[in-house]
Amino acid sequence: MRILAIETSCDESSVALLDGDVVTQLTASQIDVHKATGGVVPEVAAREHVAVMVPFVQRVLEQASVQPQELDRIAVTAGPGLITSLLVGVETARALAYGWNKPIFPVNHIAGHIAANFLINKDIPFPAIALVVSGGHTELLYMPKPGEYELIGATRDDAAGECFDKCARVLGLPYPGGPAISEQAKTGAATQYLFPRPLLNQPTFDFSFSGLKTAVLYFHRDHPEAPLADVCAGVQEALVQTIYGKTARAVKTYNVKAVLVGGGVAANAALRERLQTLSVPVFIPPLEYCTDNAAMIAAACRLQNAPAKLFSFRADPNWELTIR
Ligand code: KG4
Ligand code: ZN
Repeated sequence: MRILAIETSCDESSVALLDGDVVTQLTASQIDVHKATGGVVPEVAAREHVAVMVPFVQRVLEQASVQPQELDRIAVTAGPGLITSLLVGVETARALAYGWNKPIFPVNHIAGHIAANFLINKDIPFPAIALVVSGGHTELLYMPKPGEYELIGATRDDAAGECFDKCARVLGLPYPGGPAISEQAKTGAATQYLFPRPLLNQPTFDFSFSGLKTAVLYFHRDHPEAPLADVCAGVQEALVQTIYGKTARAVKTYNVKAVLVGGGVAANAALRERLQTLSVPVFIPPLEYCTDNAAMIAAACRLQNAPAKLFSFRADPNWELTIR
């Protein structure tokens, strides 16, 4: 099956062709543009998407030596995400599907992050727990089988990546904060400063990271002299331990055979290492498929059966994979 996929849910413009198991992909990061504002300005992100979408589609097809007529499906992220960004991808995909007369598949962005694992692993045992940790999401889902999801926990306020980004900002580090904090943390002592592990010891699978961010804000105000590397290592450890602890409990409670990880924060080396100590096999995509990319959207599309009616679906910034 040949799938052309488009991902524009936030600040990465990505187009991929999944031809069997072969990926041809182009991704443009807007990080440099958003560094100036310390975060994503939605209208700016949308304009950046518009500039690259059509050229990327042309170049990906060219590089893969595939003609539009040879495509089986067009897949596009329809949510969740920033509405201005989602609209660019959805309307580009709709126009292509209309012009080329191809079936269109709206794909959930979270399902994409999880499906990134199927790009490289064919033999994942189920049932499984999926952990999605990104700039916009922190979710635990129970998956009886591929493509089926039950949301068991989500963040009540900030996402894990957002917490990394906001703590970095407080500490005077650049955007995006996750890589900046993890770079600093490499030379720091994780046990020097103990930051809160919100909801860690409560029976819920929900997360809450806004208190951690506030704790870092006050700590930095009161102790500006504290070595940055140690503070970063402490922040990272609080996040890693909280995410690990909740996931470990989900594995036990749901008695699953595997954990599938996805999302930009899964690029964090300390988190990857800690998750590997869980009692079941843990699957984490390579770095390029952790952060937003279109190949993962194609992989999720492969699990879907029926296309959407061309003009009947819309970009949905709040599309939940399941209702609790
Ligand atoms: O999945 P993603 O590319 O976009 C969203 O869907 O949100 O995730 C971006 C998030 C950002 O918050 C960024 O700080 C975080 O992933 N991130 C990291 C690392 N690399 C990216 N967080 C911690 N450690 C990293 N190495
Ligand atoms: Zn994402």
